[in-house]
Amino acid sequence: MSALDRALTIDDLKKMAKRRVPKQFFDYVDSGAYTEGTYRANEEDYKAIKFRQRVAVNLENRSLASTLLGQPVSLPVAIAPVGSTGMTDADGEIKAARAAEKFGIPFTLSTMAICSIEDVAENTTKPFWFQLYVMKDRPFIERLIDRARAAKCSALVLTMDLQILGQRHKDVRNGLKAPPKFTPRFVAEMAIKPGWAMRMLGTNRHTFRNIHGHVTEATNLGKLSTWTATQFDLTLNWKDIAWIKKRFGGPVIVKGILDAEDAQLAIDNGADAIVVSNHGGRQLDGAPSTIRVLPEIVDAVGHKTEVLMDGGIRSGQDLLKALALGAKGAMIGRIMAFGLGAGGEAGVLRALEIVRKETDTTMALMGERDIRNIGAHNIYSNDLVKRQGY
Ligand SMILES: Cc1cc2nc3c(=O)[nH]c(=O)nc-3n(C[C@H](O)[C@H](O)[C@H](O)COP(=O)(O)O)c2cc1C
Repeated sequence: MSALDRALTIDDLKKMAKRRVPKQFFDYVDSGAYTEGTYRANEEDYKAIKFRQRVAVNLENRSLASTLLGQPVSLPVAIAPVGSTGMTDADGEIKAARAAEKFGIPFTLSTMAICSIEDVAENTTKPFWFQLYVMKDRPFIERLIDRARAAKCSALVLTMDLQILGQRHKDVRNGLKAPPKFTPRFVAEMAIKPGWAMRMLGTNRHTFRNIHGHVTEATNLGKLSTWTATQFDLTLNWKDIAWIKKRFGGPVIVKGILDAEDAQLAIDNGADAIVVSNHGGRQLDGAPSTIRVLPEIVDAVGHKTEVLMDGGIRSGQDLLKALALGAKGAMIGRIMAFGLGAGGEAGVLRALEIVRKETDTTMALMGERDIRNIGAHNIYSNDLVKRQGY
């Protein structure tokens, strides 16, 4: 039995990833902004929600299949955009996209990915989603949208919660950089993580390839990081959805909604779907967990649009709770990253398999056969949930 097969939970994969990935890149994934209070709340707030156990139901022919934005999925999840995934493991975005394709769910490529749109398109066969950060250099953003369209990306995920960067203390303390600086500490770490180092030596994808070579100012890597650091657009607003949507010509999913009023504004301004998200606790520390605000956002806009959510999902049980509270599906960030760190493409597949199995068994124990029927009736009591402040 391989080490990956022995991993029974996402936490087992996280521990494996910690052993295999250099500290600065593991910490980059396993961190939130400032006190990390929102990062922790995202995970912990699922615990208060209790399932209703129903028995003596025919459990034959169960189905986890659903749709996200009209696209069939084998499980209602999509891989969330995770910047620098190619630093968790060499060519990480390609590996994760391939795993998603095999598993039958969408993969979302970040603007801040190591592998470019073209790298992923050349190494996969199914359309993926592209996540857009709007930057001040509008001609660059227009070209980026055109590149996503040319690569046949089937949706654009427009992230609205990162006009300014929340600070992650671990990254500052570790001197995080992509590509990494060859400090004595980093070189010493390479000696104990030779697999990661060898795989990195085997690829030339070491920096932000959606940007590098595509902006005239960023001629070398030093200039690229200075350019990127000053580029996030402080003037981004709801009106921007219209021209982005027109330019892309396909569905636009607005990500980073944590408030019912913003959800309504996103829809009014043309969003085709929204993702309830606090960026995995990496931006506004002190904001509520996503599972906590999900019901009020579903109440406000759920009848008009698909509401996806992300944040803190570490198991099939967490996924089912999000569905019970009205999400059409979920995005998963760290589940993918921990799987990738633990074992590359096979590790991402293992992570997805773990979640699939947990979802299937739990759904059956709730007395349900079809994931599309999961709803408020599956949690212990709506009143109880309300009393607890959900
Ligand atoms: C390491 C890391 C990098 C991320 N980079 C991006 C990004 O480039 N663009 C984006 O929209 N969201 C980014 N996110 C947020 C994720 O898309 C997603 O909202 C979050 O990971 C969900 O929480 P979870 O990791 O608990 O599943 C990042 C998250 C992590 C953990």
